[in-house]
Amino acid sequence: MSELRLHDYHPSSASLMQEVLAGLAATPKVLPPKLFYDHRGAQLFERICELPEYYPTRTEIAILERHAEEIADLTGRGACLLELGSGAGVKVRLLLEHLRPKMYVPIDISRTQLRASAEAVAQDYDWLEVHPVCADYCRPLRLDFIPDDTHRLVFFPGSTLGNFEPAEARAFLENLRGLTGDEGALLISIDLKKDPKRIDDAYNDSAGVTAAFNLNILNRLQCDLDAEVDPDGFRHQAFYNRRAGRVEMHLISRRPQTIVVDGRTFHLDEGKTIHTENSYKYDVEEFQDLARRAGYRSPRVWTDSDALFSVHLLRPA
Ligand SMILES: C[S@@+](CC[C@H](N)C(=O)[O-])C[C@H]1O[C@@H](n2cnc3c(N)ncnc32)[C@H](O)[C@@H]1O
Repeated sequence: MSELRLHDYHPSSASLMQEVLAGLAATPKVLPPKLFYDHRGAQLFERICELPEYYPTRTEIAILERHAEEIADLTGRGACLLELGSGAGVKVRLLLEHLRPKMYVPIDISRTQLRASAEAVAQDYDWLEVHPVCADYCRPLRLDFIPDDTHRLVFFPGSTLGNFEPAEARAFLENLRGLTGDEGALLISIDLKKDPKRIDDAYNDSAGVTAAFNLNILNRLQCDLDAEVDPDGFRHQAFYNRRAGRVEMHLISRRPQTIVVDGRTFHLDEGKTIHTENSYKYDVEEFQDLARRAGYRSPRVWTDSDALFSVHLLRPA
């Protein structure tokens, strides 16, 4: 099989550097979650998905398996299927035979994993045209290879929208209407509000994989941005902030220390935090309201019987 052409628009080191410098200069300090996903981070996330405590992945998979045929009936076959944050590409496989898309466009910032998962899909579904795009989906995407006459289905699994602040999520959804077009649809997964203990456990697994994933962002600063930082000087913290309706992940400084990036020095006292990720949880109606305000209607939502997780079909209103 010939190698797939990767449409490569990975953000430059200079632009990642700018985001990191701005984040470390902020109070409290923040780092963008997209930095988690270098090769090791992507592998660690695959392990998180298999953890007994991490209910979202298996619940989402069960919902998709159960309703794939109905999803295809509602969204139509022969579409251009775009997947945002496609990762290991596990979930799309549950839909492909039902949807029979004309073209599959996985979009992810993690280049090595994207290339491998797109090649595996192309090999396993030899009737499918696959166009992997390595890019930051928060920036304008160059997708001029998609024929104009093909309707589009945008798949955004993994409850990754939860990483955005609600106002950012709304703006992001508004922008996606440019991707779906008026005739297209969006299939998007949202983790639901539930017993906070269940959520806390999912982000504090007993094997320490989520901790390793969180700390890996500092290895990334070392390897890709030549930062001087000691990952052992930090510990993982994750908790459900009930008032805000989100899980917060932090790296807590174990001692007074400095991080040096691009010649700039950032000081952290003992106990100070670098906020690495939010993962917002929604009620079904709360998310539908957000989607409505972003210009969508919600013809269908699927959940599991324990109301842990939801998959929404949205159409431009
Ligand atoms: C939470 S993981 C979900 C992976 C997979 N979709 C799943 O459901 O298991 C988020 C995925 O989105 C990708 N990602 C995160 N931020 C991104 C960005 N700004 N642009 C493109 N991809 C991004 C990551 O590389 C990762 O594969």
